[in-house]
Amino acid sequence: MDITARTTIAELMAGPPALLDVLRSTGLYRDGDDPGLMLGQLCWSWGFNPAILLMMLQSANVVKSAPPLDIGPFLAMPLPEYVTHIETVYHAGQRDQVARLLPLAAAAAAASPGDERLAALKTLLEEFGPELEHHLLHEEEALFPMIRGLAAGTVVATRCGSAVGGPIACMENDHALAERTLARLRQLTDDYTSPAAGAALLALLAEFDQMLREHMYTENEGLFPRALEAHQAAHQAAHQEAARARAATLQATG
Ligand SMILES: [Fe+2]
Ligand SMILES: [Fe+2]
Repeated sequence: MDITARTTIAELMAGPPALLDVLRSTGLYRDGDDPGLMLGQLCWSWGFNPAILLMMLQSANVVKSAPPLDIGPFLAMPLPEYVTHIETVYHAGQRDQVARLLPLAAAAAAASPGDERLAALKTLLEEFGPELEHHLLHEEEALFPMIRGLAAGTVVATRCGSAVGGPIACMENDHALAERTLARLRQLTDDYTSPAAGAALLALLAEFDQMLREHMYTENEGLFPRALEAHQAAHQAAHQEAARARAATLQATG
């Protein structure tokens, strides 16, 4: 929702619940106070800088959506199996979807030459296809071998360094950019409902969107934190081993 100095407390109450919590935390509003007041008026009556309140509210102004996937079953799965699952289900699945999306988008744009949104959709998919392929390859050739190595107790260095956090940060950045592409795809098709795009393209776009959100979620929330933990554990074990070896050498020479 749009929040300005003219937004009333009642309007704020209709937004994400965190907004009212933020307002209460400032002490400017208590339950039972007049909800018809505008935020600007409220700030003025307390001598509070409205810009600060709006900034605080903006950070809480997010609609929390349900996670696209239950990652519970993957938290106990051995890491090499988890990585293989992502490759066989998501990487293979998304490559297949992109290969089918491109000709459908090109056909839709060709069928309606004056439709700017269809032309933009075609261009966006043509640009995003190679970007996604680059991302998948980076995971398959750099990060995933590193994670498999961690599980086997070996360190596989990549061009992002020998710590698993390097390539993970690169991949999380790609995921954030992909979220923007998904938002643009939804915008160009009115949330995959615009009749001009045609039923087959809309259905495939919705399928692609769902799979990409699941894919990024399972990596961001499941695989990556587990890989970072495994890296930390391997690091600690190596330190302890080195300390033991030093102590044994000292004992032998002393
Ligand atoms: Fe992936
Ligand atoms: Fe990824």
